[in-house]
Amino acid sequence: MIYTVTFNPSLDYTMRIKNFQTGALNRTNYEEIRVGGKGVNVSIVLTSLGVPNVALGFIAGFTGDQIETGMKQLGCETNFIRLPNGFSRINVKLQEEQETEMNGMGPAVSSDDCEQFMMRMKMLRPGDILVLSGSIPTSMPQDMYEKILDIIDTDQIRVIVDTSSNLLRRTLAYRPFLIKPNLSELGEMFGRSLVEYDDIVGCARHLQEEGARNVLVSMGSAGAILVTQDGQVFSAPAPSGNLVDSIGAGDSMVAGFIAGYLERNSMVDGFAKGLAAGSATAYKQGLATGEEITAIAQRA
Ligand SMILES: Nc1ncnc2c1ncn2[C@@H]1O[C@H](COP(=O)(O)OP(=O)(O)OP(=O)(O)O)[C@@H](O)[C@H]1O
Ligand SMILES: [Mg+2]
Repeated sequence: MIYTVTFNPSLDYTMRIKNFQTGALNRTNYEEIRVGGKGVNVSIVLTSLGVPNVALGFIAGFTGDQIETGMKQLGCETNFIRLPNGFSRINVKLQEEQETEMNGMGPAVSSDDCEQFMMRMKMLRPGDILVLSGSIPTSMPQDMYEKILDIIDTDQIRVIVDTSSNLLRRTLAYRPFLIKPNLSELGEMFGRSLVEYDDIVGCARHLQEEGARNVLVSMGSAGAILVTQDGQVFSAPAPSGNLVDSIGAGDSMVAGFIAGYLERNSMVDGFAKGLAAGSATAYKQGLATGEEITAIAQRA
């Protein structure tokens, strides 16, 4: 089975307001509410691509109920831990000329709750895939990813990590199957901005020396580079299209990679579908559907 982890999933409330003014009553002219969170996004795109998976993490309160209901409506399987207090966060995205975001903090996660989550990790079996994405809420131990990786057999369970540069680096010693830094996260790890192809590949190889097996560097509109465990390098520009909104492109890429890779256990198939999925999401509002991803993948 594939498991995604989102410690602090959200309801994302997007609203558009013309001539927004602070300190005044403003009325929206467009609004929508979607389930949000990096692991949750991976689950939604995987499901749309027809790949069974289970979303894990914490939910609380009526917003948590809605996150679960919303996921189920999209056909996703979930196994969230329900926290006794607080409520899952609402992230407000205000779109006017500029986009302003206000992210809630979410419910506090106690050490007992973390313990319960660790019990879930004991369900993992050889051959499973575990996707660790996003940040760790401040109420949780910041070494939560390491704690998880300590108790699972990372030779048997393929771990995919997509998180900020410092958290990512701390997982490398556990030999994750795949890491997906974007160019700026990769640059942060090496203390410089990366532009040249050889430099990017060199940094990816360096992370392999630190333990990562496969390194997928995403570069927004410039596409991506994959450096595999056996030393191969694949690179491709993004498929052509018109940018609408790239939020969730990285998560879509992770989902696309998994779906493509699992078809024939092929890294290059994973790379191609990951690239198609990232761009398919960038070329529309919200996450791309399986059909949209397949349409772009078949074009290549
Ligand atoms: N502007 C764009 N045009 C075309 N394709 C894009 C664009 N932005 C992202 N993509 C596609 O999505 C993939 C992942 O995007 P990106 O490198 O922006 O990930 P990210 O920074 O991790 O995104 P996220 O904000 O979801 O964390 C890219 O490799 C590319 O295939
Ligand atoms: Mg990202």
